Amino acid sequence: MRSEDWQALQDRLLQEAIAAADSAWCPHSEFPVGAALLTADGKVIRGCNVENVSYGLTNCAERSALFSAISQGLAPGSFKALLVYAPKVPVISPCGACRQVMVELLAQDCPVICVGHDSAATRHWTAGQLLPGAFIEF
Ligand code: THU
Repeated sequence: MRSEDWQALQDRLLQEAIAAADSAWCPHSEFPVGAALLTADGKVIRGCNVENVSYGLTNCAERSALFSAISQGLAPGSFKALLVYAPKVPVISPCGACRQVMVELLAQDCPVICVGHDSAATRHWTAGQLLPGAFIEF
């Protein structure tokens, strides 16, 4: 893909993730997060964090997007990119639970773009880079 096309795609994913963060249910942390997952046919599936007063039940934005995609019948490993956005930090860093889920549901070379309020701090990872030595088989 040409770099201008890739940049345009990332801009689109960021707009989707910003919109997703607006839907976050985060009364306990007041830390909204949005995720935008690009499918093989160019659609975008949004996810946001959904908290609960029983804190451990919280679902992160990344897992919300991935679980929604799988629930809609999309194939693990078929996704083209995942962008995560959190407005209250310079750059978001996905939690360990989400990294483990990404390793299983994203191709290892799938781009994971992490964005916060400082665009200069944006980090470009692949799913495989986010969890070296991951537990993947038994
Ligand atoms: N959170 C996410 O949704 N994604 C991340 O990458 C980090 C943390 C959520 C979980 C919780 O609702 C809030 O942010 C504070 O931890």
